[in-house]
Amino acid sequence: SEIYVQGVSGARPKVPISMARLEAQASQIMSPEAFAYIAGGAGLESTMDNNLRAFEADRIVPRMLVDVSERDTSVELFGRRLESPFLLAPIGVQEMAHPDADLATARAAAATGVPMIFSNQASVSMEKCAAEMGDSPRWFQLYWSKSNDLVASLVSRAEACGCEAIVVTLDTTLLGWRIRDLDLAYLPFLRGKGIAQYTSDPVFQKLLAETPANSEVDQDRKITLDTVKAIAQLMTTYPDDLLSNVRSGKPLAAVRQFINIYSRPSLTWEDLPFLREHTKLPIILKGIQHPDDAKRAKDEGVDGIIVSNHGGRQVDGAVASYEALKSCVAATGPDYPVLFDSGIRSGADAFKAIAHGARAVCLGRPYIWGLALAGEEGVKEVITNFKADFDLTMGLAGCRSIAEIDANAVRSV
Ligand code: FNR
Repeated sequence: SEIYVQGVSGARPKVPISMARLEAQASQIMSPEAFAYIAGGAGLESTMDNNLRAFEADRIVPRMLVDVSERDTSVELFGRRLESPFLLAPIGVQEMAHPDADLATARAAAATGVPMIFSNQASVSMEKCAAEMGDSPRWFQLYWSKSNDLVASLVSRAEACGCEAIVVTLDTTLLGWRIRDLDLAYLPFLRGKGIAQYTSDPVFQKLLAETPANSEVDQDRKITLDTVKAIAQLMTTYPDDLLSNVRSGKPLAAVRQFINIYSRPSLTWEDLPFLREHTKLPIILKGIQHPDDAKRAKDEGVDGIIVSNHGGRQVDGAVASYEALKSCVAATGPDYPVLFDSGIRSGADAFKAIAHGARAVCLGRPYIWGLALAGEEGVKEVITNFKADFDLTMGLAGCRSIAEIDANAVRSV
């Protein structure tokens, strides 16, 4: 109601409330490369489009004459009570949207009580972000590197700076076919962006210091130490304009290898016990889409999953994330923590996802548009608008709490 009163009393918001205008305005102030990188999806972008459209398959059926004067949007997630069922999805390279990058997002997350999931490809280290957040909730998202030492180091740093869960993103062991970026010949990592978690890492530094020139592949770590050195040089020596160095020959190999370092395409279920041995925090698998994978996660004792297709950035022509949510919840049963992202653009979208069994939903691109337009304040407004829209949708649908949002509250068309 505060937003409404402010809105109709002439106090204009800093960023558009309409999602379409929010994105359009962000596109006007960003570089074409930055906008393409953030807005784009894989291939023909059919997965990305379907993510948004899939919600239309269901309609909310509001109930009347329920006393909704008192409403409670809170949820409990892994032992922590959250005021609303929203989190901030891990989004890398936020410096492309705004110079304050992850720091602005961390402050906005803390101000609104919405957990921030620190990206493995962040522009600001997790320690610096955590220092802005007091005891507000934050999680860490891991890309499983080729080096298990690096994995263990990242996870112990996450524990040390107060992260309350480890999210392992599974859908990006290879980078998707992203046509907008290919057309512009642009990939942020090649410009030394989104690498703060590495450059601030002691194991990474150690690997670097130990590196003899031209060393061979280290079989145990499955990583070429030479690669580490080359990457670190790219990160530190050529932060701004790598392309001229790329043209000179040798760094090209290093670039290729950098694209490989952050992930391990050979990752399987058999690797997960390593993580379990290295952290007591809840482990959440992000990028689950197939019901059999959802079921397997539960059977293997993984603490939860995020049904997601990375905002349609990985597999073109894939199942919409909202469709995947339904099949995954059916496979795990209602007692297993299933979170959701990819396509949330309104309170109604969040409501429908919750009706179909999501415990909470992650916001993605919309908060980055807010960041691009107005830094911390922009992110804060986007979050606050989602919360208010959701609260009104819930109340007007005749639900007083998250628990009352069940499959009865929606109907497929
Ligand atoms: C992402 N996403 C992502 N996921 C992740 O696990 N680690 C990451 O570093 C990133 N980075 C990233 C950058 C950009 C620019 C985008 C748009 C997305 C995926 C993200 O967490 C989430 O799954 C999607 O953003 C959800 O889709 P929508 O709602 O943004 O369309």
